[in-house]
Amino acid sequence: MLSYRHAFHAGNHADVLKHFIELQLLRYLNQKDKPYSMIDTHAGAGLYALDQAYAAKNAEYVDGIARLWQRDDVPGPLADYVAVVRELNPEGTLRVYPGSPWVAMQCLRAQDQLRLFELHPTDSALLRQNFPVTNRRVKIEAADGFAGLKALLPPPSRRALVLIDPPYEDKQDYQRVPTVLRDALQRFETGMYAVWYPLLQRHESLLLPESLKRLPVQNWLDVNLTVHHPAADGFGMHGSGMFIINPPWILPTLLRTVMPYLAGVLGQDASARFNLEVRG
Ligand SMILES: C[S@@+](CC[C@H](N)C(=O)[O-])C[C@H]1O[C@@H](n2cnc3c(N)ncnc32)[C@H](O)[C@@H]1O
Repeated sequence: MLSYRHAFHAGNHADVLKHFIELQLLRYLNQKDKPYSMIDTHAGAGLYALDQAYAAKNAEYVDGIARLWQRDDVPGPLADYVAVVRELNPEGTLRVYPGSPWVAMQCLRAQDQLRLFELHPTDSALLRQNFPVTNRRVKIEAADGFAGLKALLPPPSRRALVLIDPPYEDKQDYQRVPTVLRDALQRFETGMYAVWYPLLQRHESLLLPESLKRLPVQNWLDVNLTVHHPAADGFGMHGSGMFIINPPWILPTLLRTVMPYLAGVLGQDASARFNLEVRG
């Protein structure tokens, strides 16, 4: 069952955290000329119109990118991400928001490759529209990204960023993420892996970061951002996190600069805060 449509959530606080970090991971890979692959196992539609039905319905971007994009005090690495959003909206009105494939395309060089998986038929069709097949660096598959990852590892260049960003509407996603990572690490232990996860009050969500920390890896970083107090009824997402395996050495320092600012700007009440844990 595929009921999730990312368009409802485009540009929200979780997208801000995820896409800002994705951009920084790719900037780091770009420091060397050697080619790399970016593999996005759950790519979405690639671009989102914020003024059209889906995004406008919930208007989640109002408490996400809209809080940031016209500020003039944004710290450098975060300003880099904001600039990507601004480029998409040259007239100065926030109408379009980039998905993870679009963010990746801003970094990819001629020698790099982008592999996109999107299972939802409508979103995979939109993805193909947004990334025409004439671009030979990009390959789109309307297939299960968890299953598809296996065949791509290790990449020929032995350099890759794998973004794993499932909807978690199906409880199985919480099991599949660590299982798939365990297998991926056996095939390609030096890869950089970035997993997005929601902060929810449901049991599975609370356990996921802990199960990621038990993976057989020496180096990982876990960062999460709480934007408001968990709801009294137990429902809803009060924040989100990114778990990164083999993170760039510079990332902890960079996050210590940016996360206090993000918690301040995206925070909705006194519970707003961030956590950063680094191993290795
Ligand atoms: C959170 S959204 C992705 C957002 C996107 N990564 C971004 O940041 O712009 C999750 C996407 O995964 C898709 N999806 C769900 N299960 C999938 C699977 N097993 N393989 C590939 N795509 C899947 C959904 O249709 C949805 O578009």
